[in-house]
Amino acid sequence: MALNVVIGAQWGDEGKGKIIDYLSERSDYVIRFHGGNNAGHTVINKFGKFALHLVPSGIFHPKTKVIIGNGVVIDLQILLEEIKMLEKCKISLKNKLFISPRCHLIMPYHKLLDSLHEKAKGKGKTGTTGRGIGPTYSDKVSYNGIRVADLMNSKSFSKKLKIQLSIKNKILKTLGAIQLNQKSIEKVFFDFREKIKLYVREPFSLIQNAIKNKKNILLEGAQGTLLDNDWGTYPFVTGSTVLTGGINAGAGIPINKLDNIIGIAKAYLTRVGEGPFPTELAEDLGKKLRTVGGEFGATTGRPRRCGWLDIELLKFACYINGFTKLAITKLDVLDNFPEIKICTHYTLRGKKVNYADGDANFLAKVKPVYKTFKGWGKPTKGITKYNNLPLEVKEYIKEIEKLTGVKIKYISTGAKRQEIIKL
Ligand code: IMP
Repeated sequence: MALNVVIGAQWGDEGKGKIIDYLSERSDYVIRFHGGNNAGHTVINKFGKFALHLVPSGIFHPKTKVIIGNGVVIDLQILLEEIKMLEKCKISLKNKLFISPRCHLIMPYHKLLDSLHEKAKGKGKTGTTGRGIGPTYSDKVSYNGIRVADLMNSKSFSKKLKIQLSIKNKILKTLGAIQLNQKSIEKVFFDFREKIKLYVREPFSLIQNAIKNKKNILLEGAQGTLLDNDWGTYPFVTGSTVLTGGINAGAGIPINKLDNIIGIAKAYLTRVGEGPFPTELAEDLGKKLRTVGGEFGATTGRPRRCGWLDIELLKFACYINGFTKLAITKLDVLDNFPEIKICTHYTLRGKKVNYADGDANFLAKVKPVYKTFKGWGKPTKGITKYNNLPLEVKEYIKEIEKLTGVKIKYISTGAKRQEIIKL
């Protein structure tokens, strides 16, 4: 039995979906504990290629139950589309998918406010996915949220919606946006309720029993450490706690029950949206990485910014999350680069500085110091044995282990489930 955790070690898009899918084969439960449909976990398996936004990635395994924990914010329309897509592949979700009634709902005004806030911030915008994530979490924190449990009770839902619309319509009017109508929202949401009610169940005792009965449990992190609301590059972050610590609040699991905390990092680095990125590559090399790596958002299709692996950031992620192991993904993307760099540390005005010393403005000013590696120039795609890797790759991998102090357990050499080296 093990309680495994998968957390993004960078700015999201680390290839968590593939590792989660691989690990969930042996999992009795897969649980999401934060974020919403800003996430897009790509899974390629015998059923096809999927970008899952809300349903935990373990859904494809016949014996695995999946739980959307209370820390997740839900856009019901997207969730229902995902359920429909899975049912088309003959994947039944009955008694397999559980949704916590404590989850907060992404309401139509949250999505409108997300884009209005971004517009108002102009050049200083965060570059959100536009899915209403930030406004939903801010309503949760300020006691203005509407939860799945409220939707299960028409009276409670209507009462809360009425109060929220009386506030939100005033804001929307001020910002020059359309007014929202209570009856139309109720019609849509009561229809949603009929379709999701069979999945709504408080999962606390289910999870507690699973832990007691020594079941295999996998916690599926979304986004990445550097997008964490507290420890990321604020305000270029997301609304949730992305870190290991978020599991306690977002899934009701005590931290001392966790066995393996696996950090997922790409062999290079990407970022979508705005914010500082010390190792970002200029057009030529950046474009090559983007093209070879297929670095376009699974959720929004936006081109991702690309750069070299940044050990200063990875070391921070290892420490704050307490990673016990690392998985390095998309190694094969670097196959045809004559030179590969790793940023070992930063300096500012000639002095060594650390990521946690400052904020986003500080990070925009630091100077990355690089170590250069000779490229391996040979295909690594699909390799499943460590011994079959070129010598230069082994050196690269060993250097990451040495600099972070965390052992690498998995190396992903392609998008397919079996394209992986287990160490
Ligand atoms: P939000 O989560 O939509 O509010 O977006 C806030 C920031 O997080 C933006 O920079 C997004 O691009 C980024 N972001 C949110 N979710 C993901 C993700 O799953 N992968 C990568 N970036 C993300």
